[in-house]
Amino acid sequence: MDFNLLRPGRNDACWCGSGTKYKKCHASFDERLGECRRAGMVIPPRNIIKNAKQIEGIRESAKINVAVLDYVSSHIRAGIATEEIDRWVCEQTLSHNAIPATLHYEGYPRSVCVSVNDEVCHGIPSDRVLRDGDIVNVDVSTVWQGYYSDSSRMFCIGTVTEEKKRLVQVARESLEVGLGAVKPWGCLGDMGQAVNDFVKSNGYSVVREIGGHGIGLAFHEEPWVSYVSRRGTEMVTAPGMCFTIEPMVNMGGAEVVLDNGNGWTVRTADAKPSAQWEIQVLVTENGCEVLAW
Ligand code: MF3
Ligand code: CO
Repeated sequence: MDFNLLRPGRNDACWCGSGTKYKKCHASFDERLGECRRAGMVIPPRNIIKNAKQIEGIRESAKINVAVLDYVSSHIRAGIATEEIDRWVCEQTLSHNAIPATLHYEGYPRSVCVSVNDEVCHGIPSDRVLRDGDIVNVDVSTVWQGYYSDSSRMFCIGTVTEEKKRLVQVARESLEVGLGAVKPWGCLGDMGQAVNDFVKSNGYSVVREIGGHGIGLAFHEEPWVSYVSRRGTEMVTAPGMCFTIEPMVNMGGAEVVLDNGNGWTVRTADAKPSAQWEIQVLVTENGCEVLAW
């Protein structure tokens, strides 16, 4: 039995948990989704469609996430150890009555991921000192009253080479390009291909193995968000869906390796630099809203 196909009576409470009558809530949504299903598209499960109350909570969580990243932005500099950033993120998050979502997540030991130069993602804060010329991704995630948020930014430490600066810039612009391709009743492949085409046209490559994810009521929900997907494929982007866009852009080849020393950190196979920005978006009735950048 596919519970996603069961429809409440028109005057019964909607399946989304809003408490509103179905006919005034997700009835037309289900009509539209039915068209998508008949067209052979991949349909989102109901448990990732957020109602208004949940969206409010996720928005609050995202505000905290942004405030923590703002704090990092104004304090990061050459000469500090990456574990200093971990301390800031932990303290700032707690001061907003929230908890860093990565702390103890599947055994991850810290409150933030800090990935430097050829580290693609999941860099574990340590006594490593940031140096002039480094490019650094700081990836912050927050849980506030059960609502999750996740976004990351790049930082250029001191004087950075032109080629690394360009990498950071293209990674950022790829998010804007991806964002422009997210629309209600489209599909994730529209965004994925837009990002990939843009990155390739700039002479860089996108990591295939690691992508974005649904988020909100859990840290990682459906769907998995790829940037090597094709236009017109992958899950329908329906209003109420919340997910991250976080392409990892490599200066050299797309291949990555896992650092077996710590079991977490992913690096480029060719040791060339990698850059990543991450935003959290909500699909709305008429477009999409960036909750955290
Ligand atoms: N913000 C990262 C992501 O969602 C966190 C990964 S889980 C961690 O991709 F444990 F590695 F932090
Ligand atoms: Co993420």
